[in-house]
Amino acid sequence: MDKRRLEYLQRMGIDVWVPRETGAEAAVASQPAAEAPATAAPSPAASAERDEAAPDWDWPALEAAIRACTACRLHESRTQGVVGVGDHAARLMVIGEAPGAEEDRRGEPFVGRAGQLLDEMLRAIGLSRRDGGVYITNILKSRPPDNRDPLADEVAACEPYLRRQLQLIQPQVILAVGRVAAQNLLKKEQPLGKLRGRWHFYGPDETPVWVTYHPAYLLRSPGDKAKAWQDLKQVRNRLASVS
Ligand code: URA
Repeated sequence: MDKRRLEYLQRMGIDVWVPRETGAEAAVASQPAAEAPATAAPSPAASAERDEAAPDWDWPALEAAIRACTACRLHESRTQGVVGVGDHAARLMVIGEAPGAEEDRRGEPFVGRAGQLLDEMLRAIGLSRRDGGVYITNILKSRPPDNRDPLADEVAACEPYLRRQLQLIQPQVILAVGRVAAQNLLKKEQPLGKLRGRWHFYGPDETPVWVTYHPAYLLRSPGDKAKAWQDLKQVRNRLASVS
């Protein structure tokens, strides 16, 4: 493992060692670093389908629409719509829940403490919001008051924005962070523990989706950071397999 990755893992709070016999990398984890079950590639027919749910905004039109959106009640209490940040040609799209207070104020997703941890996690697999390879956004573009969970009609109102972001970027992999992001993206009600650990597929392009813990949860429960590292390795390996 190179020195920089080791440093980031340590900053994520994960102890890493290199077994003497094999030289293979191992992160301290309470569960084995098993690879996810093999998954079928999307069918060509599905990939060719058009996404009728997303208007064909270009980036400036999409960003303007999100910033000025009044499609649900959240525009009354938010400061601004928060579009997303990162590479418009990203291979990985990270999808969180909704802007918090700091994100609402600054107009950028994941800029608080949880965002700093997310940045460390991404750096551990060689990606950065500033230097490319990843785009970060949320299910909801406007902050719900008191950080309450998104309501179904708010998610539905925001969905065309997310769909268009995906159409424009065409990421190879989506990483959904946290239960709320995963359930709303995948339209499933299972708990996070059941959604983690296997590949899901999203949208007409059947983009592969991996689910992991929300960084805010990891700040409260650092014991699960090793499992998050297993998730990041799944993402890293999938990206490597399609490059
Ligand atoms: N949590 C999220 O899910 N998204 C943000 O942008 C910030 C915190």
